[in-house]
Amino acid sequence: MDPARGSDAVLADAAVVFDGERIAWIGPAAEAPAADEMHDAGGRAMLPGWVDSHTHLVFAGDRSAEFEARMAGEPYAAGGIAVTTEATRAAGDYDLTRMLLARQAEAAAGGTTWLETKTGYGLDVEQEARSARIASTVVDDVTFLGAHLVPAGSDPEEYTDLVCGPMLAAVRPYVQWADVFCERGAFTEEQSRRVLTACRDAGLGLRVHGNQLGPGAGVRLAVEFGAASVDHVNYLADSDVEALAGTWRDWDAQTGSGQPGTVATCLPACDLSTRQPLAPARRLLDAGVEVALASNCNPGTSYTSSMNFCVATAVLQMELSVAEALRAATYGGALALRRHAGVDEDGKRAVGSIAVGHRADVQLLNAPSAAHLAYRPGMPLTAAVWRAGDRIRK
Ligand code: NIG
Repeated sequence: MDPARGSDAVLADAAVVFDGERIAWIGPAAEAPAADEMHDAGGRAMLPGWVDSHTHLVFAGDRSAEFEARMAGEPYAAGGIAVTTEATRAAGDYDLTRMLLARQAEAAAGGTTWLETKTGYGLDVEQEARSARIASTVVDDVTFLGAHLVPAGSDPEEYTDLVCGPMLAAVRPYVQWADVFCERGAFTEEQSRRVLTACRDAGLGLRVHGNQLGPGAGVRLAVEFGAASVDHVNYLADSDVEALAGTWRDWDAQTGSGQPGTVATCLPACDLSTRQPLAPARRLLDAGVEVALASNCNPGTSYTSSMNFCVATAVLQMELSVAEALRAATYGGALALRRHAGVDEDGKRAVGSIAVGHRADVQLLNAPSAAHLAYRPGMPLTAAVWRAGDRIRK
């Protein structure tokens, strides 16, 4: 997945050398420099660790009854967010942290080595700040999603003011990103614009939940604000696709150089669980838009962190090649989080590709090639995972 090598480059009989947390060398196994410790992959496929750029993992409670009702024909309506909010508010810090750690461990066991997660089940100043603080102790990137749902009994305009003012100030020390659920039944275009403006002015990177349940302003706003990602993208007009493609004009997808635009993040597990049309990833790629695949793990619309499942679905149902799906689940996610190159001010290295200088985040499959992820869907193919050079799954 190193763009410098060609986006679908596969090296055969290769070796990768780690130096602490970084990748130090890649090349033919026969030429590998000596190392203190050796692992023989035995001809199995090694991939970058998954970069899951969209999850909602700070929550308590169970919504399996809502899921069953949906499978019996009830449409998904965002109202279930209130159910999770009530359970989350009632949980103590210890339990909320323990549940988050368990979900992170589950994701890591499935090959995810970089995880973004959002607030959004607190929905008042104190609870949103608590969710952000807890998330910041566990995951790599934290996103403020106070604008997830207007709590029952609140005035939408007053609640938007709260999000843009005291709530933003309270979460600010813990988050890198801000997001807004711009959708009928959640936040209007104008309210979303206010949230994005306030969060941008506070120095946060921007992301948008858009065009999930119907056509709308989400993609348009994401492009207008230069958001790093617009997520869901199920209902796209031609003008939405064109607007997204326009953000990638100064980007060279082959070399990974230039100015990245707004990533279209597709969430196939959510689309299946809510019986929405699968996001048009093929159409987006053909138009020149960089696409990410993410799990959207959350208790309402997508209770899975399996990126293997997302990759298999993208290949089997969304007309992506194996190479395109792998790129979207690794490099695409890194682009959506602007973690695809360089080292940030906290010393965090780039992820999403196996490249010299990047963080040593890789996974080994119990298979000779990555095609097996779609060829043998649902099989336990993750054999070993290294995160920042540490073996986290044997
Ligand atoms: O990304 N769309 C909004 N937020 C979540 C669902 C949240 C829920 O229903 O609990 C999503 O699908």
